[in-house]
Amino acid sequence: MSYVSIVGTGSYVPTKVVTNNDLEKIVDTNDEWIKTRTGIHTRRMSEGENTSDLALKAAEEALKDADMSGEDIDLIIVATVTQDTFTPSVACIVQSKIGANKATCFDITAGCTGFVYALNIAKQFLETGKCKNALVIGAEVLSKVTNWEDRNTCVLFGDGSGAAVLRAGEQEGIISTYTGSKGDENRYLEIKAVQVNNPFMQEISNNNPSLIKMNGKEIFKFATKIIRKSLKNVIEDTGYSLDDVKYIVPHQANHRIIEHVAHKTNMDIDRYYMNIDKYGNTSSASIAIALDEMNKKGLLEKNDKVILVGFGGGLTWGSIFINWVK
Ligand code: ACO
Repeated sequence: MSYVSIVGTGSYVPTKVVTNNDLEKIVDTNDEWIKTRTGIHTRRMSEGENTSDLALKAAEEALKDADMSGEDIDLIIVATVTQDTFTPSVACIVQSKIGANKATCFDITAGCTGFVYALNIAKQFLETGKCKNALVIGAEVLSKVTNWEDRNTCVLFGDGSGAAVLRAGEQEGIISTYTGSKGDENRYLEIKAVQVNNPFMQEISNNNPSLIKMNGKEIFKFATKIIRKSLKNVIEDTGYSLDDVKYIVPHQANHRIIEHVAHKTNMDIDRYYMNIDKYGNTSSASIAIALDEMNKKGLLEKNDKVILVGFGGGLTWGSIFINWVK
């Protein structure tokens, strides 16, 4: 069995900045409400770029950071809930653009936990020796599935992508992983796909639009509990405690969720990395963007311990305990 480590990161957000004041012109909301209830000041919005365009840019940066090219990659996994097309996958589109000709490519969907799930899957491929280098991407253009008439949700989301290159080798980078799902609470967060509709049906169904529907209160309660459980479970049996961890990198959904968890875990809020003020909730991309930002800012030193923790639609959750080896 090989060890697996993160050897490069990248991210990309569209250039268009949408402020809370911009949203006041679309729905009945205001800057004060959005900032105090969510922590979001701005978010980025695609002006036409699709999910694979965002994914490609993050991937190129991550490859550069890892000092690799597409030819070195033998696995590409993209976590997303906003694919360009049902087929081909975003991963296959990225493959063709970076010339990763020997790679196996597929997308996965695990709501906002997508990037954590994808890292965990890639780790299994690399540990067994099946692959040597993997490109894991979280990418979303949520603005295509946002209900722009629903003030409860449209103020929360943004577009963006982040990527990490994983390598199998001698250095233990990903120390531990933990994931879980609870399908019987799937109703709390939903984006409909194409409805069943064919000439052999008794009644032709109306094709409901694919827009985000969320029960914010239930997700809030779920998130505050499951983040703590995910931290506890991923660290168990590693020989480390939360005191050894320099940063927690949580899914960026709401600053109040993170403040609550920081308080409950008796940790200084500064040890929870946050950039939700700039980008809003970018679902599968949020943890990947945050990790890349920390890498670029030089916040991470060799052998620092970091925990990535995600939660989202499904419901799903998960965490990754990392020894930073770059
Ligand atoms: N502007 C102004 N007022 C608003 C807005 C808005 N954008 N949205 C809701 N309100 C109003 C409501 O209508 C309500 O008014 P009322 O009291 O007259 O009925 C009032 O504000 C309070 O609404 P609540 O829903 O109780 O507000 P809450 O404090 O719960 O905040 C929020 C809502 C921000 C959605 C919060 O519940 C939350 O963050 N939940 C978690 C959501 C989340 O984490 N989602 C992502 C996880 S999964 C994923 O990332 C895909």
